[in-house]
Amino acid sequence: MLENASFHMTPDEFRRHGKTMVDWIADYYERIESYPVLSQVKPGEIRASLPKNPPAHGEPFESLLGDVAQKIMPGVTHWQSPNFFAYFPSNASFPSILGELLSAGLDVQGMLWATSPACTELETHVLDWLVDMLGLPNQFLSTSSGGGVIQDTASSASLCALLAAREHATNYATNDRGCNGLLVAYTSTQAHSSIEKAVKIAGLGRDNLRLIEVDESFAMRPEALAAQIKRDRDAGLMPCFVSATVGTTASNAFDPLRAIGEICREHGIWFHVDGAMSGTAALCPEFRSIHEGLELADSYTFNPHKWMFTNFDCNCFYVADRKALIQTLSILPEYLRNQATESGTVIDYRDWHIQLGRRFRSLKLWFVIRHYGVEGLRHHIRRHVELAQQFASWVRGDNQFELAAPAPLNLVCFRHRGGDAMNQEIMDRLNRSGDLYLTHAKLGGRFTLRVCIGQTHTELRHVQRAWERIREEAAHASASAKAIA
Ligand SMILES: Cc1ncc(COP(=O)(O)O)c(C=O)c1O
Repeated sequence: MLENASFHMTPDEFRRHGKTMVDWIADYYERIESYPVLSQVKPGEIRASLPKNPPAHGEPFESLLGDVAQKIMPGVTHWQSPNFFAYFPSNASFPSILGELLSAGLDVQGMLWATSPACTELETHVLDWLVDMLGLPNQFLSTSSGGGVIQDTASSASLCALLAAREHATNYATNDRGCNGLLVAYTSTQAHSSIEKAVKIAGLGRDNLRLIEVDESFAMRPEALAAQIKRDRDAGLMPCFVSATVGTTASNAFDPLRAIGEICREHGIWFHVDGAMSGTAALCPEFRSIHEGLELADSYTFNPHKWMFTNFDCNCFYVADRKALIQTLSILPEYLRNQATESGTVIDYRDWHIQLGRRFRSLKLWFVIRHYGVEGLRHHIRRHVELAQQFASWVRGDNQFELAAPAPLNLVCFRHRGGDAMNQEIMDRLNRSGDLYLTHAKLGGRFTLRVCIGQTHTELRHVQRAWERIREEAAHASASAKAIA
């Protein structure tokens, strides 16, 4: 090897390979429907195809791309396929991908305002835009007592909310002395598992998480919450945190925010709202009732990386009182001291979340918002809701199937009347076929199929085909059940 070999990719090579890579991604989207949506590989298959040892010598870019096609793609589940109806979506768009590329290219560390002022200021600006775009309460604006920050995920955001609630309830003593074992948190039986995880990480202990019962639409019962808080108070415990959900994961239920918020106000409890996927619906004024009562919340989170065409990861987290969050998470080692921080006139986002370092995530969100405009974003959200409502009407009109929960937005929970085993069989057959991908939930103890419509490029034809395939596989599953009987 020459002594002065740098091993680097030169700017010219980067330009060339970069163009190939962008072409590759564009081609991928053009042929995405030709792949099985759910990867069909067996556990261990991908690793077995990779060399045991890392390369001693650098390899040409072409051979990397060749291996992506041959070895990696079979193990990819195509979340961006228009036939992806599983979980909640994690949708992306070309402007977002380009924003991500730019963020990687600049690769700044935005932990402090001073380490890249644009990273902080664009983020604050875009998060303020979103308050307006979603019609969120003014307390979440950076120009009020609160403000927003981009986090990786809703899980991290809810953990930060809980930490701030914990400190708020104990006058910031828990940060010094650790948990007292008396703090109690509340959410519904239908809340996302990230709340339970946050309770474990924050040191409250799982026994101090109360899962409040839900009504027939799977929304939290406020009177059950009030009764549980009273019981805990009477037992000498310290209720400190309630998390309500705007669009539960299993069935898209909406907890009654106003009633829950009023209970929290009465007892001085931190009120957090998790709108992970469904929060995005508030882009459309006609869906804003999902946030009715949100002005009573101390914190709110939603994921543009689910339904707002912004590739993973991108979570927005808002607090009504930024001082409480900053006092909870702030640290100031000597090596981070700088004039801007000391002047008190800038935001240092490292005090708004768990990790120190942070990426320039607002770029991709900014690109998405500027490319689509509010009009374009609303258009697609409305279309997804319309398609889901169409799907729900087909289920209602077929006497072999039934709806398993209300379908207020873009998620339809339904089941074949043939029972749990039949529904499991239908789902497995569909997912094995690779034609579409859907997942299940248990509602009222019963196996329920879920079709969530939120993929960027899903159109009527995909939803029609999904319904046809569901009915076909239901017919096959019924026939084989009869044959066995
Ligand atoms: C209601 C709800 N909250 C939180 C989450 C967790 O999201 P994240 O992966 O961003 O942590 C999800 C994920 O689907 C969710 O549905």
